[in-house]
Amino acid sequence: MPENLPFYLKDNFAPTFEEVTATELKVTGEIPRALNGRMLRNGPNPQTGWSSHWFLGDGMIHGVELEDGKANWYRNRYVRTPLFADSGADPIEAIMDLQKSAANTHIIHHAGKILALEEAHLPFALTPELETEGPWDFAGKLNTPMTAHPKTCPETGELLFFGYGIFPPYLTYHRVSASGELVQSEEITVPGATMIHDFNITRNYVIWMDLPAVWDVENMADSGLPIKWDPSYGARLGVMPREGCDADVVWYEIDPCYVFHPLNAYEEGNQIVIDVCRKANVMAARVESPAMLYRWVIDQDKGTVTETQLDDRSTEFPRLNDSLVGLKHRYGYVAGLSDVGPLAERYIKFDLANDSSQVFELGAGREGSEAVFVADPDGSAEDDGWLLSYVFDKAAGTSELVIMDAADLSRGALATVHLPARVPMGFHGSWIPENY
Ligand SMILES: [Fe+2]
Repeated sequence: MPENLPFYLKDNFAPTFEEVTATELKVTGEIPRALNGRMLRNGPNPQTGWSSHWFLGDGMIHGVELEDGKANWYRNRYVRTPLFADSGADPIEAIMDLQKSAANTHIIHHAGKILALEEAHLPFALTPELETEGPWDFAGKLNTPMTAHPKTCPETGELLFFGYGIFPPYLTYHRVSASGELVQSEEITVPGATMIHDFNITRNYVIWMDLPAVWDVENMADSGLPIKWDPSYGARLGVMPREGCDADVVWYEIDPCYVFHPLNAYEEGNQIVIDVCRKANVMAARVESPAMLYRWVIDQDKGTVTETQLDDRSTEFPRLNDSLVGLKHRYGYVAGLSDVGPLAERYIKFDLANDSSQVFELGAGREGSEAVFVADPDGSAEDDGWLLSYVFDKAAGTSELVIMDAADLSRGALATVHLPARVPMGFHGSWIPENY
């Protein structure tokens, strides 16, 4: 074990090793009674205490169940994949086996299944109590990896996603029906193998982001990731009808950049608007190349893309009301990142209709993860709902689930669920409603 641990293995990024089940959790404030379900979040938690990169640790899910104003339980569980069972396996060799997943990036639900995701392998199904059921390949139909950022269409209920590979096909599109059947797979032609972390959908299109984070195994020794920044690869957005194929993709060149996460995309006439957290260089240190909110507008008539910076703060983990995925949004919620690491010091609510924002500062010694928007089932406005996030309190050495009013972040925490264990910093999560 190196003496100088990298950021992702120390402080509140350090893994936790005990799998805990605790019930009847202590709550400060009042949990909205309409919040009935589970707040689940995934993140890397290397079982050996070591991984060569933040992105490569074994996945651990943390969850809190809320019901009728009470916090019933907290649990944390490893996702038990063949890679977990083969501790110390070479991460490059693991890429060759669709089941050797770290399963550490996101957790979603669709068609009655809860799926832990990581972008180079199959999804893994979990029970609502976070026990691993096993890999899910859509009844034998999925034979590529699945991105950690699929999109559920709020209008059709379809799950749209892709998989990328280091060998051809480099990019494959998949469309799953609302009932969970994989109904379409299409190979998409791109010039080479790149790390494609996320994509976009609108009512009629999917939009690919083919960006110059190029696969290069030689780079593993330098950066811990088999990726190099190669602007000579170029950068392009590809617009494809949702039920279309490779021949239908229209590509638009853009300036080289990297986007881990778009906030959302939507159509306005023949234009497509995409709001993204854009980095100038994927491999540069985060403080040198912070992700900031930008807007791309693709004009399908003129064949052009305009790029406009919307904000100059370091922000990531963008989320919105999921009922507007692919449709016009007004609000976006992001983590305002610290200079010391990819952790939230604040949450920012962007009002994109008024070019304004509202900020909730977590305060000294408090560090947050991605905040997830949960719509109020009785609400009508886009921002009627709550933001839920795991927050670490350094002085106490413990973690909390914090519930904020998404309509008015200035109210601070409406409720705080005090957890009996430390929840390390992680990646993405979802609210899994009571009847999913
Ligand atoms: Fe992500």
